Amino acid sequence: MSTHVDGSPCRLADLTPDSLRNTVVRKEKLSPVLTLLEINAPLIARSARAGQFVMVWSGEHSERIPLTLSDWNADKGTITIIFQEVGRGTMELGRFDIGQDIPSISGPLGHPTEIENYGTAVVIGGGVGTAIARPVALAMKNAGNHVITIIGAREKSLIILEDEMRAIADEQFITTDDGSYGRKGLVTDALKDIMDAQKVNIVVAIGPLPMMRFVAKTTEPYGVKTIVSLDPIMIDGTGMCGGCRVTVGGKTMFTCVDGPDFDAHQVDWDELKSRKAFYFDEEKAARESLTAGGAK
Ligand code: NAD
Ligand code: FES
Repeated sequence: MSTHVDGSPCRLADLTPDSLRNTVVRKEKLSPVLTLLEINAPLIARSARAGQFVMVWSGEHSERIPLTLSDWNADKGTITIIFQEVGRGTMELGRFDIGQDIPSISGPLGHPTEIENYGTAVVIGGGVGTAIARPVALAMKNAGNHVITIIGAREKSLIILEDEMRAIADEQFITTDDGSYGRKGLVTDALKDIMDAQKVNIVVAIGPLPMMRFVAKTTEPYGVKTIVSLDPIMIDGTGMCGGCRVTVGGKTMFTCVDGPDFDAHQVDWDELKSRKAFYFDEEKAARESLTAGGAK
């Protein structure tokens, strides 16, 4: 290993263009609709923190897509992303196999989740949001919190990271909409029961927009600080395009540089919902062109 002039190890000097290639080193199908990729990205792995995201670009005719990190390993120099193949960008990403290089990944971006010893922290992962909730739960645990996790999914096959979350949590609750596993109902049903039974100091919720919105509604009467990780449309991820604009507490914020975490009780949910639907027709057409075999 190279050293600085004072003799301390200089790990950057060991990086070569080859060692910086974003090569896929692991690929797993976690559920019928969710894919995990572990990717070589030593510089990102070194500085990543819970709640941060990367912008991934799959090739010349692809859009850049924001994905919040699910895991990272500074020693191995890898990051892990888990995503649902819902749009053209994620479908293209899902085509990469072990040994192939992803053309560009930039990050870590955004502010990390504010981690401190709050007391009792409830961390909620809804569907694929559970992938992002895991590092937040771990960081909360490492900060000394009593951590309660809630994982919610539509049905049993869509539950992910159950064992990994249980290994972190002091208490864990699972809900499915159809009752095929755990408690029948929504994450908000479990959350309400927890808050009725004990004092909760913070709730962090990551999942689909309606879930985060209703988590905010559920905690409001209890006066519990509630943080959500927003995922509006992003284009550049660096605060320049305005695509990720949200209104929080009456102020304009850019999710990529001011978030992605925000106070759930201050978010203008109606505006976010309508902005997220803005490119629905274009997204549908892009998805259809890819599934129809179009390359551009
Ligand atoms: P889903 O629709 O299956 O919902 C997962 C769980 O969330 C449900 O089982 C339920 O418990 C809860 N939920 C949903 N609607 C609710 C409501 N109205 N009230 C209370 N609880 C509710 O989840 P999915 O299909 O995995 O979600 C995909 C969506 O998640 C995508 O639209 C994507 O944009 C979003 N997402 C968000 C983030 C983020 O950073 N916030 C990250 C990844 C994905
Ligand atoms: Fe362009 Fe945030 S994605 S300003």
